[in-house]
Amino acid sequence: MKAIQLEKPGKFDLIQIPEATSPGPGEALVRVHRVGICGTDISGFLGKMPFYSYPRIPGHELGVEVLEVGSGVTQVQPGDRCSIEPYINNESSFASQRGSTNCCEDLKVLGVHIDGGMRPRFLVPARKLHPSESLTFEQLALVETLAIGCHAVNRGQAQAGENVLVIGAGPIGLSAIEFLRIAKSKITVLDVNQQRLDFCKHTMKVDHTVKFEAEGGSLSALQNLTDGHLYTLVVDATGNSKSMSNALNYVGHTGRLVYVGITTEEVHFPHPLMHRREMTLLASRNALPADFTRIIKLIQDGKIDTRPWITHRSSMESLIADFPSYTKPETGVIKAIVEIEG
Ligand SMILES: NC(=O)c1ccc[n+]([C@@H]2O[C@H](COP(=O)([O-])OP(=O)(O)OC[C@H]3O[C@@H](n4cnc5c(N)ncnc54)[C@H](O)[C@@H]3O)[C@@H](O)[C@H]2O)c1
Ligand SMILES: [Zn+2]
Repeated sequence: MKAIQLEKPGKFDLIQIPEATSPGPGEALVRVHRVGICGTDISGFLGKMPFYSYPRIPGHELGVEVLEVGSGVTQVQPGDRCSIEPYINNESSFASQRGSTNCCEDLKVLGVHIDGGMRPRFLVPARKLHPSESLTFEQLALVETLAIGCHAVNRGQAQAGENVLVIGAGPIGLSAIEFLRIAKSKITVLDVNQQRLDFCKHTMKVDHTVKFEAEGGSLSALQNLTDGHLYTLVVDATGNSKSMSNALNYVGHTGRLVYVGITTEEVHFPHPLMHRREMTLLASRNALPADFTRIIKLIQDGKIDTRPWITHRSSMESLIADFPSYTKPETGVIKAIVEIEG
């Protein structure tokens, strides 16, 4: 069968791979229908992802159908449509034993550390499948992106009526916005990109948008929006180390700052800034199984509308030519979805 492989940074190939085998105990054989493209795939393509190894079959945002299950599998059955939680953890690790399967020491993420779903069929641990009776494969492929924002908002313990600032309105920032909206927080979005801010204002209906300006320009705008108190929760979803260092300036007294964006660089800030305001600094990595269950229900109940999310589509054949355009925000791409044939 065919598969898309990232041979090395900048080079995708459509390759032939052996057919998937029958599932062993605890495993399921799945038919992949839709794969979402995200920043992680783009970083892998651009050679900017520190944990990525090559060659690699990408694909971790997956809408799949169960074809066959191995012995001992009871939670799914053939015919079920599922989202995959792509964080393959070691169940006996220290973090997993504490319930933090999202940041297990031995974590292998599908499509990053081990081969992912850009292929028609493959085997997954059945415990990583989250079924839904009514979601489309496209919606199921979106669940993982949403889970990143869900976990970040949970880490920040967003409250109703609280002023929350989201820095960076890419797909990860947008996914956080969905859950801040559900938490009924008052949302301000800061970005350098006016097109993305306009999307937040008009489609996501956030309360305020502010275009980033250097030299303290944004700070005074944000103070004006919060009666001078600034934000008790700030979520930085830029992945930009300068933004992440600067983000502490926007956190008010007793506030929390969640880094959901990732940088390989150092983040610097003057300690008195953090200390005087008694801030809490948090990281948010991946998501938990319960986040997947919750998101599937929210989409089923019409509380999250996935329609504005999908802006571009590719087939396995067209992806290689289409992919470079997905790396450019000016093309208006939020989420590109690949249809897997075969
Ligand atoms: N925590 C996790 O588990 C997890 C999972 C997936 C992705 N990520 C990370 O989340 C980050 C965001 O991903 P994405 O796909 O949304 O990326 P993206 O590049 O599409 O979006 C980032 C946004 O930040 C804006 N931005 C950049 N610098 C800025 C600055 N100085 N001030 C204000 N805005 C600025 C950009 O204009 C852009 O709109 C990345 O670092 C990615 O690696 C984290
Ligand atoms: Zn992703």
